Amino acid sequence: MDTQPANKSIVEIVRATKIYPPDVVALEDISLSITYGEMVFLTGMSGAGKTTLLKLICGIEHPDKGMVEVTGKDLNRIKGAEIPRLRQQIGMAYQDFKLLPDRTVAQNIAMAMEVSYQNIRTIKKRVIELLQKLRLEHKHNAFAGNLSRGEQQRVTIARAVANSPTLILADEPTGNLDSKTTKLVMELFEQCNISGTTIIIATHDESIYRKSENRVLELHSGQMVQPTDRTILTPENMP
Ligand SMILES: Nc1ncnc2c1ncn2[C@@H]1O[C@H](COP(=O)(O)OP(=O)(O)OP(=O)(O)O)[C@@H](O)[C@H]1O
Ligand SMILES: [Mg+2]
Repeated sequence: MDTQPANKSIVEIVRATKIYPPDVVALEDISLSITYGEMVFLTGMSGAGKTTLLKLICGIEHPDKGMVEVTGKDLNRIKGAEIPRLRQQIGMAYQDFKLLPDRTVAQNIAMAMEVSYQNIRTIKKRVIELLQKLRLEHKHNAFAGNLSRGEQQRVTIARAVANSPTLILADEPTGNLDSKTTKLVMELFEQCNISGTTIIIATHDESIYRKSENRVLELHSGQMVQPTDRTILTPENMP
């Protein structure tokens, strides 16, 4: 994991616009700065541009205008050999999971660690530890394609955090989960965050950020709106 001074930006987006052909303006003139070690929530209605913004940050999509810089590297100028290194530092939990259905749960998670040449014993231990945290130990050898959506979602999250990346991007990570399982996932993210990982969570689920003191960014039709007017919790209005 990168050890970077506090207050330095891990993500810097300047006036980024993303248009999907022929004319879908998914993001318009977005500027955003995220500091190393932050946990940030990204909210907004369906179609507001949350997934597109995460895709710009991990370099799956590129802006038509503007700049996206991650760990100090301008993604428009980054050189070929640097791309895999940057990708290794980012753990992405995809909204549509992107698991390999004919591989086991353990293999899906291990794959994220194999790219960084960790030894087999370390990988196996980490896989078991994550499955225990997410109450999925009994699915270790199950094929990912046979899991329920909520189980697949947790495997995607385990895969994203497995390699202890510098930056975790979680796209709607609790969309298929009940409240108890949501709590397990959030505890895992909080542990990662406490150990220094920057986390961006795109979500509709107000329950996971309502009581949080972390920054909440809101997109509306591809534009960043002012910070949400969030209620200050007091003993009187506590839900
Ligand atoms: N590959 C694509 N081609 C064309 N349009 C796209 C593509 N991907 C996304 N869009 C459009 O871009 C806009 C933003 O989509 P995006 O998936 O980023 O929204 P979102 O906030 O993640 O929505 P949700 O909450 O439903 O996941 C939408 O209007 C969507 O239809
Ligand atoms: Mg989305």
